[in-house]
Amino acid sequence: ATERTLSIIKPDAVAKNAIGEIIARFEKAGLQVVAAKMVHLSDEKAGGFYAEHKERPFFKDLVGFMTSGPVVVQVLEGEGAIAKNRDLMGATNPKEAAPGTIRADFAETIDANAVHGSDSAESAEREIGYFFGNDEICPR
Ligand code: CMP
Repeated sequence: ATERTLSIIKPDAVAKNAIGEIIARFEKAGLQVVAAKMVHLSDEKAGGFYAEHKERPFFKDLVGFMTSGPVVVQVLEGEGAIAKNRDLMGATNPKEAAPGTIRADFAETIDANAVHGSDSAESAEREIGYFFGNDEICPR
């Protein structure tokens, strides 16, 4: 089925000037960018996005990293978009990410891991609504 998923190009990948190469991978895999914006997240916005990790030991570092520079937030649309995006990204820890995945090619550490992608339909719905209003999404 056609799905939507939320993708974030994280501060490390933006700093490497890899925005275009990462979006090209989404497009070449048949996903369409139907919404996009660049933002420098506040502590509050980043913390709210990752609220499910609030009690985890890495939460403070995660928020610190995600607010360290601008990010590019996008809604990707396509057949099986949620799983497809996760396949393109590779494992959360770049050291475990399969060759040819975005994290294997662009990321160094589990914190600075280049991209975020929604992990389920429920997360996708929440995460898209967290960043975009309906009038900011442009299906083609
Ligand atoms: P992301 O998919 O954005 O979701 C939460 C982020 O927390 C994850 O990518 C990692 O960058 C970061 N993180 C840091 N340490 C861990 C860990 N031990 N387990 C999972 N995520 C971690």
